[in-house]
Amino acid sequence: MAEQFPSKPSQPHSTLGVDLGSKIAYGFAGFVLSGTLLLTPFAVTPFLRARLPYQHTPREKLKDGFEMIARNCDKRSLMALTQKLRFVDLGSGAGEATIMATQKGYQALGVEINPTLIIISELKKMRQFGLFTSSSMNCEFRSTNLLSLDYSKFDVLFMFGVKPLLQVIGPQLIKTDPNTLLLLYRFKLPREGRLISDEFFEEVERKGELTLYSRTSKME
Ligand SMILES: C[S@@+](CC[C@H](N)C(=O)[O-])C[C@H]1O[C@@H](n2cnc3c(N)ncnc32)[C@H](O)[C@@H]1O
Repeated sequence: MAEQFPSKPSQPHSTLGVDLGSKIAYGFAGFVLSGTLLLTPFAVTPFLRARLPYQHTPREKLKDGFEMIARNCDKRSLMALTQKLRFVDLGSGAGEATIMATQKGYQALGVEINPTLIIISELKKMRQFGLFTSSSMNCEFRSTNLLSLDYSKFDVLFMFGVKPLLQVIGPQLIKTDPNTLLLLYRFKLPREGRLISDEFFEEVERKGELTLYSRTSKME
């Protein structure tokens, strides 16, 4: 007669203790991960920023600048009714102006040559608008040289530019369409240099260190 092996004692089903233990572990890991993701922008931004020799336009000046733009957009009926105005900050730094432009309802782009500042800007954007929201879609940062951009794609240009850049940016500025607004903080368009003379940009408003220009209809 075939030998009967004693049947193996059945494994205990996973006990409540094991299930609960792994649930607690997963829950804790999830909590730590989401907490880290949420807190990273707050912790990293000041740390990165403190290490950069970088100047930004004060918030109050930016607000004044956007008011100047709004007044002159209305006057010149530049604002298309169905489309958002396209705004670019040339040398966007840590992204303040681009984020404010998005909050004001523009389709906003910040171009910046320093990749660390782009990381800071992206973190701020995430903190401000979250992910995959309509505002986050209207706010873009690009790590590139501002001289390589096609300026005809924008209705409003903003720049806290340094003098040497303003002196070489002329050929790009002239490619803008008539009525395009150019807001400069701190520095004005240099008078010397035929390419960005009064023929191409007329000053329409000034407030303190902010100067707003409008592109004339003069062709290149
Ligand atoms: C004075 S900060 C202004 C920052 C910001 N627009 C604001 O007003 O707060 C000028 C910025 O331009 C950037 N910049 C300088 N040359 C550039 C270039 N060729 N292309 C893109 N960004 C440039 C610098 O890295 C710096 O962050």
